[in-house]
Amino acid sequence: MRHDVTIVSNRQIAKATMEMKVRCPGVEIAPGTFFHIKTSGLLRRPLSVANVEGDEITFLYKVIGEGTTELSGKRVGDTLDVLGPLGNGFPLAQHGKRVVLVGGGIGVPPLYYVRRRLHEMGIETIAILGFDSKESVFYEDAFRELGETIITTVDGSHGESGFVTGPLARIEADVLLSCGPEAMLKAVATSPIPERYLSIENRMGCGIGACFACVCQAPGGYVKVCSDGPVFNAEEVLL
Ligand code: FES
Repeated sequence: MRHDVTIVSNRQIAKATMEMKVRCPGVEIAPGTFFHIKTSGLLRRPLSVANVEGDEITFLYKVIGEGTTELSGKRVGDTLDVLGPLGNGFPLAQHGKRVVLVGGGIGVPPLYYVRRRLHEMGIETIAILGFDSKESVFYEDAFRELGETIITTVDGSHGESGFVTGPLARIEADVLLSCGPEAMLKAVATSPIPERYLSIENRMGCGIGACFACVCQAPGGYVKVCSDGPVFNAEEVLL
């Protein structure tokens, strides 16, 4: 479960947003799961999987603190100590259903990998991706190659003006798969789409269910985001 992976690329792809590819042979990775990355600070940093091609894993991350600033300075050939894949991902058995993917900001990456996998299985999806502004948008072309894609920006500088909930309200679907900031997840959790799955981001410690740093309220008590999730049925969590 712990791997020393080698960085094969690390580049900026949008405002304060980096794409890092690492080589990690012989690992089976389900969409929606994550890796816990060691930096020089005390805690590891959870990063969701944005794509897998052969033995290369792609992570996208926002440069917002010490750990991610350190990651952004890594060079090709450097190695990283990672734990993973961890957690439970998105349900893939969606044959015959209309699936909508709803992502916001740095919650968009895992939706790319799940969309690719669903596409390979012959399952069509619609994607609604929300960003702050045009400079923050990434992977738009890559998403469009896999099907209908609607982009929203809060400031209206690209795509539709406003939030993902605008286009979501006019789309009929059976299943919603979503990842993004808590306010967005709260909004999409109450959508009339019958089956709704949310990938929740939370502060983490151990990443393996042992420390309780990542608990989230649930109808019967609490759940651990790292080991019970990060993907939950919307009925299983209280946001
Ligand atoms: Fe330790 Fe989830 S991070 S229990």
